[in-house]
Amino acid sequence: MSGRAFTKIETGRLVLRRLCDGDLGAFMAYLNDPLVARYQSWESYTEAQAREVIERQRGVEPGRPGEWFTFAAELKGTGELAGHVALSVKADDPRQAEIGFTFARGRQGRGLAREAAEAVLEYAFGVLGLHRVVAITDCENERSVALLERLGMRREGHFVENIWFKGAWGSEYLYALLRREWLSRRGV
Ligand SMILES: CC(C)(COP(=O)(O)OP(=O)(O)OC[C@H]1O[C@@H](n2cnc3c(N)ncnc32)[C@H](O)[C@@H]1OP(=O)(O)O)[C@@H](O)C(=O)NCCC(=O)NCCS
Repeated sequence: MSGRAFTKIETGRLVLRRLCDGDLGAFMAYLNDPLVARYQSWESYTEAQAREVIERQRGVEPGRPGEWFTFAAELKGTGELAGHVALSVKADDPRQAEIGFTFARGRQGRGLAREAAEAVLEYAFGVLGLHRVVAITDCENERSVALLERLGMRREGHFVENIWFKGAWGSEYLYALLRREWLSRRGV
């Protein structure tokens, strides 16, 4: 793992950086959008809860086992927060991590989530040197499934009614990607 503090990653259209106080409005707006929250662990976020997330990120570095790091995706030019990609290295095995993504409704359908997720995977496998990254999605979350497939992740598991989720049994897919698969995809 890199010993240096994370600063930013630049992609064609985005700057991935730490969440900051100025993100609060945009962050709360998309977290509280029912369409965005539909398949997420939350129903809503109060201002205090959103502030706490932003505050907690100040002291976290990507790759620290057992903690989620949030890569805030800022649109180049406007500086607006479009969404975020989160990465959590497993507490019991720091060579493996889980990835997740959340983008504002108005920023979906433009390839921005893919651009951000690819940059975070590159960071995870390249800078952090991880062996394997997984993602878990509700089977009904078509946009998420489509993105995971576009990223080249492999569907490894289909759990049937494995989770009591927002008042009903939900089913989930497990997706995974190995470092060597990522490198081979990139022609390295
Ligand atoms: C899951 C989520 C991040 C996917 O976002 P997304 O914008 O659909 O994904 P991408 O960034 O890959 O964008 C793909 C779309 O952009 C389009 N697109 C437009 N311009 C593009 C470009 N320059 N490059 C690539 N794709 C482009 C693609 O054609 C595709 O369109 P389609 O959806 O009509 O097929 C988003 O739906 C979301 O935040 N959902 C709510 C939170 C959530 O459920 N997260 C997952 C939890 S497991």
